[in-house]
Amino acid sequence: MDDNTNQNLRSSDWFARKGKMGFIYRAWMKNQGIPDYEFNGKPVIGICNTWSELTPCNAHFRELAESVKKGVLEAGGFPVEFPVMSLGETLMKPTAMLYRNLASMDVEESIRANPLDGVVLLCGCDKTTPSLVMGACSVNIPTIVVSGGPMLTGRHNGKSIGTSDIWRYHDDLRGNKLKEDELLTIESAMCRSRGHCAVMGTASSMACMVESLGISLPGNAAIPAADARRKVLAQLSGLRIVEMVRQNVRLTDILTRDALENAIKVNAAIGGSTNFVIHLLAIAGRIGVPLELKDFDTLSANIPLIVNLQPSGKYFMEDLFYAGGLQPVMKELDAILHTGCLTVNGKTVRENYRNAQIFEADVIAPMNKPFREEGGLVVLKGNICEDGAVMKPSAASSHLMQHTGKAIVFEDIEDYKNRVDDDDLDVDEDSILVLKNVGPKGYPGMPEVGNMGLPKKLLEKGITDMVRISDGRMSGTGFGTVILHVSPEAALGGNFSVIQTGDLITLDVANRSLNGALSDEELQQRKKQFVPLPPATERGYVSMYVNHVQQAHLGTDLDFLRGSSGSVVLKDSH
Ligand code: FES
Repeated sequence: MDDNTNQNLRSSDWFARKGKMGFIYRAWMKNQGIPDYEFNGKPVIGICNTWSELTPCNAHFRELAESVKKGVLEAGGFPVEFPVMSLGETLMKPTAMLYRNLASMDVEESIRANPLDGVVLLCGCDKTTPSLVMGACSVNIPTIVVSGGPMLTGRHNGKSIGTSDIWRYHDDLRGNKLKEDELLTIESAMCRSRGHCAVMGTASSMACMVESLGISLPGNAAIPAADARRKVLAQLSGLRIVEMVRQNVRLTDILTRDALENAIKVNAAIGGSTNFVIHLLAIAGRIGVPLELKDFDTLSANIPLIVNLQPSGKYFMEDLFYAGGLQPVMKELDAILHTGCLTVNGKTVRENYRNAQIFEADVIAPMNKPFREEGGLVVLKGNICEDGAVMKPSAASSHLMQHTGKAIVFEDIEDYKNRVDDDDLDVDEDSILVLKNVGPKGYPGMPEVGNMGLPKKLLEKGITDMVRISDGRMSGTGFGTVILHVSPEAALGGNFSVIQTGDLITLDVANRSLNGALSDEELQQRKKQFVPLPPATERGYVSMYVNHVQQAHLGTDLDFLRGSSGSVVLKDSH
């Protein structure tokens, strides 16, 4: 950090130029009716907007951008809003995750190529947060994140409902306990306001991540999208980013190893999404902080669940807001956090939560009286996941934490769909469902299908959970004894690819192990028969993605995107 006077603003290289190019840079800004004193010599702040009507969670972002602009103007900066690729979780096929890295490239190049001194990232729906943060990390100019905020809690038949209930309704429908027409009514009751999913799913986990990392203002995570205070936070962020430019506070000043450790601990205590692992690994790779999959286990160990939100608990983000938001949760973790980490408002983590209070003890519990002893994420290793796999004990069934069962293997998602409800499927509640070829390269894009629905005949018997293993992901809203992100994935021809129906598999969460009862010799023999999948496509982005995507234990970034290229434009033909 150092003082960044208006003379050495990055944007001066455009707007303060003399001659032809200075003329061009300024003249085309003036065609918007802006006088040159508005942008020349003032901190130019980009508002990186993921607004899109195809991303319903972010559909209110133009309004939010207006609030950011007010703050920027108030502080003497000049705001410029620009669009980037928006990733709508619900509508994009085959999965929004396929495009996270593509969107991050868009963000990185848009920031670097333009006359920006600082940037405000408007994020909401799941992948919009990591893609924007990843892209910004690879440029590293002053940056602040404003999340769009969660939806208001859904309400149906006198009961609070949220996205996690979709899985239950789906099972009820398949078990003939619910009719299609009632589902239509529930749809309207669940998504009743602007904002992202209202449970502690991936979007909320990402909003908590940026607050715990210190790259958003305190309070960012939980203010509902529909609450007027969301706009106030956006305006204050606009005000603050101008000061950050003047003080030259960049992402590398905030995203240290200690800050990343704080985020991992907070994610454990809130029962955050398993997708957090993949996204934080990718962010660490961009900012250049060493972080490994095993760190998530080591740092989460012994951190209990102190936030009672679905899918691990009972309540919703709106309730977390009324209970005090994320700051009192962080205060509860004071003894284990790196309290001196800098945050975007110039204060330390501890200074931010010093006066935070818990207002609803049923939503945020003290550390010595948690809702569950085991929060966090567990990293498993074994002969079917040599580079690791992930599970979320707070969303799993305690009776399955130590379990041996016979594998029922589905070779891909189509195989699963075709056979799962087959009356002849030889499955019982002790079986372990295994789904292959839903990994980064194999699918491609690593979709959220890991919490595969149980066979209909078991649902009808009242079975609600089974051990399920896959190389895919699970929606942050999902739950169950679900082992995800198996690495190396099946498409690479490792041990996981040769697990067969009937193999005995043992899950031992206490010892962090997941093993098939197979000798090394047997595995080697089987691997000789491995037949690689044909390429999904030979052209375009998907082909590039498949050729360069890294495995889940590394964060599934494209190999050539790791690291930063900084903010300097390599060649200036002007
Ligand atoms: Fe956008 Fe859940 S679908 S956050």
